[in-house]
Amino acid sequence: MRSILLATVILTMTAMAPHADLSDRTYDTWVTDRGEISLPRDFRKDFAHLGSWFVPEGDASGFHDVYTQPEAVAHYRKTGTFPDGAVIVKELRANSGKPMTTGHPEWANDTLKQWFVMVKDGKNRFPGNASWGDGWGWALFQPGKKGNQSTNYKSDCLGCHIPAKATDWIYVEGYPTLSGN
Ligand code: HEC
Repeated sequence: MRSILLATVILTMTAMAPHADLSDRTYDTWVTDRGEISLPRDFRKDFAHLGSWFVPEGDASGFHDVYTQPEAVAHYRKTGTFPDGAVIVKELRANSGKPMTTGHPEWANDTLKQWFVMVKDGKNRFPGNASWGDGWGWALFQPGKKGNQSTNYKSDCLGCHIPAKATDWIYVEGYPTLSGN
């Protein structure tokens, strides 16, 4: 009986460990004690690509490439939810196009426009900080400017994400990596 109990405890701890590591790493690396979020360096190399949106015109025109940690993808495929500490980065780049042997392709060029970042917070860590709430930290970064350019997620972000409320505010239909299909 005791050995079954011990085995159960060990199995439970093993199952929880990668998850705990992910949130520890996120909150040690990209979030200060006051809830200031920074843009992960080299996310294009270290994170998994979730999917891309192409916006043909307007302020947001170009490619929106979305990334998260590989551990967050693995957790989502198992549970259909983002784990505590998941960091989602959306990078906006301008596009160029020209006739090529495939037709008239458009590609994401070198002009970076901005980065949107969301950090999963299952613990309501920063009550009273207007960049945190509804289960996430919300941030905006712009080339040449230091730090999060958004000071209030409710006025800067939330309204536009209401259509995705049922899927934890994330537009999951654009991310084939999450389903593995
Ligand atoms: C004008 C509306 C609008 C505003 C304002 C907006 N978003 Fe979004 N966001 C979207 C839409 C629509 C998508 C998915 C489609 C796309 O990128 O074109 C998206 C996608 C994202 C993604 C990729 C993950 C996902 O939800 O699919 C992140 C991260 C993100 N937004 C964060 C933010 C943050 C942080 C703010 C505020 C600083 C913000 N957004 C403000 C409309 C908006």
